[in-house]
Amino acid sequence: MKHTVIKDVLASRDFGQTFTVAGWVRTRRDSKGGFSFVELNDGSCFDNLQIVAPQELPNYEAEILKLYPGCSLTATGKLVESPAAGQAVELHADSITLFGACDPLKYPLSKGRISFERLREVAHLRPRTNTFGCVSRIRNCLAMATHKFFQSRGFYYFNAPIFTASDCEGAGEMFQVTTMDLNNMPKDPETGKVDFKQDFFGKPVNLTVSGQLEAETYACALGSVYTFGPTFRAEKSNTSRHLSEFWMIEPEIAFADLNDDADIAEDYLRALFNAVITECQDDLKFCDARIEKGLLERLTRLATAKFARITYDEAIEILSKNADAFEFKPYWGADLQSEHERYLAEKVFNGPVIVMNYPKEIKAFYMRANDDGKTVAAMDVLLPEVGEIIGGSQREERLDLLEGRIRELGMDPANYWWYLDLRRFGSVPHAGFGLGFERMVRFCTGMGNIRDVIPYPRAPREIEF
Ligand code: 4AD
Ligand code: MG
Repeated sequence: MKHTVIKDVLASRDFGQTFTVAGWVRTRRDSKGGFSFVELNDGSCFDNLQIVAPQELPNYEAEILKLYPGCSLTATGKLVESPAAGQAVELHADSITLFGACDPLKYPLSKGRISFERLREVAHLRPRTNTFGCVSRIRNCLAMATHKFFQSRGFYYFNAPIFTASDCEGAGEMFQVTTMDLNNMPKDPETGKVDFKQDFFGKPVNLTVSGQLEAETYACALGSVYTFGPTFRAEKSNTSRHLSEFWMIEPEIAFADLNDDADIAEDYLRALFNAVITECQDDLKFCDARIEKGLLERLTRLATAKFARITYDEAIEILSKNADAFEFKPYWGADLQSEHERYLAEKVFNGPVIVMNYPKEIKAFYMRANDDGKTVAAMDVLLPEVGEIIGGSQREERLDLLEGRIRELGMDPANYWWYLDLRRFGSVPHAGFGLGFERMVRFCTGMGNIRDVIPYPRAPREIEF
């Protein structure tokens, strides 16, 4: 159906020209002069188009006066310079055709302000609200900016598999996948354990927690690659920054060390902030006014910020001096908690911080051992408000050390034969990182809960849609 999106109509100054638009009614107001003003939104941008419907329209009584929020329609009319404040242009309708009525007594979005918790229960309708429209468009902008950034740097887009037989993070937080009947699992008569040879793939399989291991294989052939796909974690973390299904961007770079990795992470984050600032002004203004005061100013500052870089040792030293401020007392060897990360980014550095060289015990098996024997070449990028946004490392490219570490952790090197092959055949120094996409969307919208920046959040006991 030929029509013009409202974003383009609002930008047009072709007064007198006829446009056809289509969308959903936000409000209707009837004037004494025999007009109705219908605010129409089609999702193409934040603003509504004001449609002026005269009582001469044949369906004025029967349909226009029954337009309520949520009704869908198409309207054709002339673009006119608006005499009233609030909008530059309006559409004087010659015809309005109703697609679908919407009963105001039953429509969940009829009322004014609705809590985000309630909106989560109507996740199929919430994109029609101002807030979720903004979040969706900002999310789209960040996704496109991701591709633009990596493509402009010569990275190839790589698609990692979703089903895997290996645990990338070695944390055992995986969703198992099977087609076997859970009420009647075939058992191996010798061991008495489930016989996965009879399962669909012939061995235990799970949903991927990260595409990194596979991305490494392609980086070690194409040079620089990046993934952008869904990942799954069965952590029972019911927090405002954890999801069971989240999207991750994982660049992997051959012939790179930890500092190169951190440089790319910094450039990438600044590119994302710049993209939302330049492309999503209207949406950001709304978020700034209604969701988080100071959001625009914060993003603008970060778009040019230099990131602080400290070692884990230094982080622990700083945190220990302020131990009273924390619920979890910091000590060398312990992972940084969210409260520590935020303290560093918000109170100490007042901006992004990259923490490098963590103790090997708290990091994954694939990270490159440092010469001190205690730490690995890992990095986390911390932001104010959200804490860890990026986790990355230089990878262990030395076969003997990697194999040794896998054994030390009680894992079976045989399961990683193909990953170890990269170290057998033309091994090279390489590094990469993973950015949690929803944490980034949360940061750029000011939304308080990560469940409200992904269309259909998956979290423990949350999967209605
Ligand atoms: O630190 P993580 O676990 O690192 C990896 O998965 C590496 N394989 C990445 C790499 O080096 N290629 O996860 C990376 C990021 C975190 O910094 C965080 O932003 C996000 O993914 N993340 C989550 N986001 C939402 N919900 C969860 N449950 C998340 N777990 C991690
Ligand atoms: Mg991490």
